Amino acid sequence: MDEAKLHEFMGKLVTDMGGAAMIANVILGEELGLYRAMADSTPITPEALATKTGCNPRLIREWLHAQAAAGYVEHVEGQFRLPPEQALALAVEDSPVYVAGGAVVLASLFLDKDKLIAAMRSNGALAWGEHHPSMFGGTERFFRPGYRAHLVPEWLPALEGVVSKLEAGATVADVGCGHGASTIIMAQAFPASRFFGFDYHAPSITTSQQRAAEGGVTDRVTFAQATAKNYPAQDYDLICFFDCLHDMGDPVGAARHAYQALKADGTVLLVEPFAGDHLRENTNPVGRLFYAASTFICTPNSLSQEVGLGLGAQAGEARLRSVFMEAGFTRFRRATETPFNLIFEARK
Ligand SMILES: C[S@@+](CC[C@H](N)C(=O)[O-])C[C@H]1O[C@@H](n2cnc3c(N)ncnc32)[C@H](O)[C@@H]1O
Repeated sequence: MDEAKLHEFMGKLVTDMGGAAMIANVILGEELGLYRAMADSTPITPEALATKTGCNPRLIREWLHAQAAAGYVEHVEGQFRLPPEQALALAVEDSPVYVAGGAVVLASLFLDKDKLIAAMRSNGALAWGEHHPSMFGGTERFFRPGYRAHLVPEWLPALEGVVSKLEAGATVADVGCGHGASTIIMAQAFPASRFFGFDYHAPSITTSQQRAAEGGVTDRVTFAQATAKNYPAQDYDLICFFDCLHDMGDPVGAARHAYQALKADGTVLLVEPFAGDHLRENTNPVGRLFYAASTFICTPNSLSQEVGLGLGAQAGEARLRSVFMEAGFTRFRRATETPFNLIFEARK
């Protein structure tokens, strides 16, 4: 046995266990408004933060000590400060790097652990709607900052001729829309276009309808419950799949339905988690986050549906291309990417 290797691995495990415990503390900070109360980066004592947020002072002190030990806040002589960079990630909901809202998805992994144990001992199936409710809102909050930052300024312009169609008035389907974050962002940017969001999970559609009302876009957005293979095919200019194709049991069937529902010169926008084609390319911090979440969420959902292809959240470009080629598309290209997303364009 190599003692040095054992020490190195134990260090890694302690780091990861601390990370998991810190994410639980991030969720506390987010839900209790602790980070928001520190967002101005002014040093604050535990007692003052407790008063400001209406929380127990002893527990706030312990929480702040954990935050300082993790390097999330700075500590000088009894005062704690959330630096502006950390505030962007933990306190500023509109920032492109706000991760605190989506952290609750990770809580759902632990809450659903018994269901996963049962699934792993049987056919591997666990449908989207079977998860703890924190997963649905957490997914919305996990993805929305990235969509806000990239969808309108970068991803849509990376597609051939799509922005001019959207400006003039296009018909758009957002398939597997969840709580409709992407649909509403596009609808706010392109008021002349019409948007249809579809998801097979009925409670998500109810929430997306509320979000459309809050976002002031009910005149141009319709949300309806439908699967990726049975929404009405009505000559769309653009059909979008945001972080959902790999969750589906029959992605080829979904792409084939999109082919039939698309105008001759229409475009499919496919957004998928960033991944290389092989495990060795995904053995990195982003890859491990997606594989770990995919074990609990994406892959069991796919296995719960017909075909059950089980692409997983690290499918990679080659497999995604083959899905679209098998469905009849002739053109498939990587339009752009971010550290977390691959953005593809498929055409007939
Ligand atoms: C990871 S979530 C992404 C949601 C949303 N697109 C977003 O980016 O926030 C995957 C979504 O795909 C939906 N979904 C999974 N299989 C589906 C299917 N066969 N037909 C329609 N929706 C499906 C789920 O209900 C879920 O809302």
